[in-house]
Amino acid sequence: MSLKVCLEEWERLEEDHKQLQETHRMYLQKLEEVSKLQKNCSSSISSQRRRLKEVSSLVKRCSKGPSEEDAKPLNEINEKIKTRPNAFSEMEAFLPNKNGLYLSLVLGNVNVTLLSKQSKFAYKDEYEKFKLYLTVILLLFSFVCYFFVSYRFLDAILNFVLVWYYCTLTIRESILITNGSRIKGWWVFHHYISAFFSGVMLTWPEGDLYKTFRNQFLAYSLYQSFVQCLQCYYQSGCLYRLRALGERHNMDLTVEGFQSWMWKGLTFLLPFLFFGHFWQLFNSLSLFRMARLPDCKEWQVMVCGLCFLILFMGNFFTTVAVVRHKRVNMADMDADTAAHTEPSVEEEEPFFSNLDLLLFSLIVGLVVYWYMSRKKPEPIPEFKKLDTAAPAARETSFIEKMKKTGKNIIVFYGSQTGTGEEFANRLSKDAQRYGMKGMAADPEEYEMAELARLSQIENSLAIFCMATYGEGDPTDNAQDFYDWLQEIDDEDLSGLNYTVFALGNKTYEHYNAMGKYVDKRLEELGAKRIFDLGLGDDDGNLEEDFVSWREQFWPSVCEHFGVEASGDDSSIRQYELKEHTDLNMNKVYSGEMGRLKSFEVQKPPYDSKNPFLAPVTVNRKLNKAGDRHLMHVELDITGSKIRYDSGDHVAVFPTNDSAMVNKLGQILGVDLDVVISLNNLDEESNKKHPFPCPTTYRTALTHYLDISQPPRTNVLYELAQYASDPKDQENMRRMSSSSPEGKALYHSWVQGAYRNILAILEDMPSLRPPVDHLCELLPRLQARYYSIASSSKVHPDRISICAVVVEYETPTGRTNKGVATNWLKNKLVTDNGHKSTVPMFIRKSQFRLPFKTTNPVIMIGPGTGIAPFMGFIQERGWLKEQGKEVGETVLYFGCRYKNEDYIYQEELEEAEKKGVLTQLNIAFSRDQEQKVYVQHLLKNSKEHLWKLIHSDNAHIYVCGDAKNMAKDVQTALQDIAEELGGMTRTQATDYVKKLMTKGRYSQDVWT
Ligand SMILES: Cc1cc2nc3c(=O)[nH]c(=O)nc-3n(C[C@H](O)[C@H](O)[C@H](O)COP(=O)(O)OP(=O)(O)OC[C@H]3O[C@@H](n4cnc5c(N)ncnc54)[C@H](O)[C@@H]3O)c2cc1C
Ligand SMILES: NC(=O)c1ccc[n+]([C@@H]2O[C@H](COP(=O)([O-])OP(=O)(O)OC[C@H]3O[C@@H](n4cnc5c(N)ncnc54)[C@H](OP(=O)(O)O)[C@@H]3O)[C@@H](O)[C@H]2O)c1
Ligand SMILES: Cc1cc2nc3c(=O)[nH]c(=O)nc-3n(C[C@H](O)[C@H](O)[C@H](O)COP(=O)(O)O)c2cc1C
Repeated sequence: MSLKVCLEEWERLEEDHKQLQETHRMYLQKLEEVSKLQKNCSSSISSQRRRLKEVSSLVKRCSKGPSEEDAKPLNEINEKIKTRPNAFSEMEAFLPNKNGLYLSLVLGNVNVTLLSKQSKFAYKDEYEKFKLYLTVILLLFSFVCYFFVSYRFLDAILNFVLVWYYCTLTIRESILITNGSRIKGWWVFHHYISAFFSGVMLTWPEGDLYKTFRNQFLAYSLYQSFVQCLQCYYQSGCLYRLRALGERHNMDLTVEGFQSWMWKGLTFLLPFLFFGHFWQLFNSLSLFRMARLPDCKEWQVMVCGLCFLILFMGNFFTTVAVVRHKRVNMADMDADTAAHTEPSVEEEEPFFSNLDLLLFSLIVGLVVYWYMSRKKPEPIPEFKKLDTAAPAARETSFIEKMKKTGKNIIVFYGSQTGTGEEFANRLSKDAQRYGMKGMAADPEEYEMAELARLSQIENSLAIFCMATYGEGDPTDNAQDFYDWLQEIDDEDLSGLNYTVFALGNKTYEHYNAMGKYVDKRLEELGAKRIFDLGLGDDDGNLEEDFVSWREQFWPSVCEHFGVEASGDDSSIRQYELKEHTDLNMNKVYSGEMGRLKSFEVQKPPYDSKNPFLAPVTVNRKLNKAGDRHLMHVELDITGSKIRYDSGDHVAVFPTNDSAMVNKLGQILGVDLDVVISLNNLDEESNKKHPFPCPTTYRTALTHYLDISQPPRTNVLYELAQYASDPKDQENMRRMSSSSPEGKALYHSWVQGAYRNILAILEDMPSLRPPVDHLCELLPRLQARYYSIASSSKVHPDRISICAVVVEYETPTGRTNKGVATNWLKNKLVTDNGHKSTVPMFIRKSQFRLPFKTTNPVIMIGPGTGIAPFMGFIQERGWLKEQGKEVGETVLYFGCRYKNEDYIYQEELEEAEKKGVLTQLNIAFSRDQEQKVYVQHLLKNSKEHLWKLIHSDNAHIYVCGDAKNMAKDVQTALQDIAEELGGMTRTQATDYVKKLMTKGRYSQDVWT
């Protein structure tokens, strides 16, 4: 019985479900129809507009001297034409609209058009309510701050709420505009300025000046909130009345400020409004007066003064304009007797446009500023003014810059560690030798969409020196350019002449991927390749690849443009030397990367231009024996606000060995403590100095310049002129030429012998270049990256590094020492009672543990490649302690001897004991006759590995040597897939590649 009821009920439910499905299907169909109709309407409106324009011009032509008979229909058409744009706008208010720039920036490309009148009104009413509630909250807040409590912290919250309120208003207003509101002009702009102003107030530090202005500002806020409450109250009444009368425009908007339709009911508000405007002027003048005080150091004072001035001007003139306009309307209405007894609902067009007001305010602001600063008592100069150029506003148009400076070749570089940038500089310098003018440019600093306009410059050419990183990714500074190239489809680059030199390394899977991509993509977009793509391999000989490519490249450029090489082989200086004799040492850089004195007064956020000085809290040797030095270094980041994740890299800025620097000074016979600036001769260049200036030679050679790598051929070429022995000069010229003997000599004498600049100067006694030219030519000393060997979950205030000290004998009998590792080795926890510190910042990576903790993890990292896995193991242990279910965690580690360099032995065995490491596999390569490597151990446990990978969704991680180990491990995994997955070789290769693209096979490898 009950089953029957059940079955019947189920049948009814089934029927209803079918009905529901049908209704939903119809709904989807309608949606599709609606979307089609919307498209149709939009395109019809566009076509109507176009045709209307054509008809308009036809009518205009016919209107020239028409007969009386023709004049009448022409006039009628003209009248109708005038009404059409409004009709189109009304229609468009109900069609999906493209977001304006501001909305696109804030919300992206989401559709914010409300498609029914009700929802538009509802949205607007909600907007009004939002304003009212917030105004009341702000009023109460200001009241409390003014009368009861005086904490900077509370003021900051008030200002923060103001920033948020105004930002939200601007967004809501933009949405209203998209939906047909006619709000425009000053009232919207006014909110942008208010948001900016509140932001500036938020940053104004506590001090006497702040305290002086605080109460004036709070009283003003109180007053403004009060007036706004009055306005909201009366506006809602008016709106209600207008709506009842059916006179309201679709989306007339009540903004604070004055609108003409409020005239009747709100005349009494005018004095309040004007009083508020003059209060703004008063605030502005008070602030300008404060800015003149000798104690005034805060930039916020002047900026807030300017904001108040702009607000006053905008509000005052707009209100005056509205009043005048209204008076005219009223006069018309009087003349028009009783026909127009209802209040007009048109929103007022201010007399002045936004731009007029902005420019006018800016001009007045600047005049006031000039007037105030003119009267400021001249400070007594403490030291002679620097003659380095003040930082000018950056030009983002490379076309304008090229036109201004008469350049026709631009060399863009995508570079992380400076090689691409160096090549770009060399190519731009070369251009001069070939009778052209070039400039090197960072794509991040320029508007790359301008490439389409490069043809405006005669005989123009864009060269791209692009390095590849990671999994075939662009460098950080080329990321935006890469994204742009990917996004554009309709760009026509047919006037662009280009060529690409790619920088890469064959040991990486995606060899030169970025250079290849740029070369191909530009061709697809119609640009003209005028010379073949150059491929530079850092694993082979990058310098030689570049020199060979360049040697063929320039003649073909000359041929292409029909120009002749000038043959001018003389050295071209890019910077001029300025020695400072009477400079206050407080103004001299002493190793900072960006802001002067940033090491003394540290301020977050920390990055490559502003590294954090992290104290070293642990520095211990990891290996038990052997002549190498493997070390574990811990950096304390307490209080720095630096956050990191396991798998990230820490970058450190090392310094060169002081003995080497002293030796260089001695050989060149210079006083290393002279303060200098190297100033770019090209005043238009964005790069004013090769390194932070003014500084001393000692600081430059210690902190900023790479003195330990073998110099490149261009350095030898430029230095050759200073060799007094003709033989030395000839050898240097030969080494920098592209002849086979020259290349071979460079290869053996410089690269093969690992001769750095010091060794070259020692072995060529006749070569004594001026130190400033040497400083101009040497590349910048780069930060060194280390895979973080700790987990932020366990050690949020600590970053660990695991590194091996680089030291090797060269064929000339010298001992070369790695810059960073030897510097780190000597960073003792306390150095003469002082804490040793390391300038560092974090670089995010993609090397991440799986999101799902239950996924098994296979980690393969011999030698220092174990670094990130120490972090991973700590993190998996922490997850376990939190009671999370954690999947298998398998480690493959390799070292030379068990009793020598089995680093982190105790930690690893402890992790295995606790079950955090479910498997610990170690390959001791030299403890037996036959080498045993991690890949051999992988094969030994292939069945289990294959199950983890193929059935259990394991994530594989490889870290360490890119040259051999990473490749061998990949091959071993392909072998396993082939054997146990029953695949062909190609299938197995694809299988592993797919794991990589899915993010289940990650590598953190270096050479
Ligand atoms: C993403 C990333 C992560 C890294 N993580 C780590 C890590 O966790 N641990 C770690 O130890 N390193 C790591 N490195 C390498 C590290 O950044 C440094 O390159 C390394 O420590 C050497 O720096 P250095 O300044 O002491 O040596 P440098 O002064 O830069 O000298 C190194 C150069 O010396 C030459 N050289 C080195 N050894 C020899 C030799 N035997 N014979 C001849 N020439 C030689 C090579 O040209 C080499 O490029 C990582 C690198 C990258 C890119
Ligand atoms: N550019 C630099 O200045 C610099 C500095 C430091 C490290 N590195 C790179 O980082 C890597 C790791 O250096 P490290 O000193 O930490 O390691 P390491 O101690 O030299 O090597 C770790 C283990 O890996 C083994 N190994 C060698 N070749 C391998 C291969 N093809 N596949 C698997 N295992 C292999 C070694 O065996 P055997 O030695 O017995 O063959 C050793 O047992 C180095 O290979 C180097 O490429 C570069
Ligand atoms: C961590 C790392 C990852 C790299 N990845 C790649 C790569 O995927 N493909 C490639 O061809 N070269 C790769 N390279 C090599 C660099 O592109 C090459 O050394 C280049 O000369 C660097 O130029 P830059 O100094 O201008 O940054 C990599 C180098 C490093 C250090």
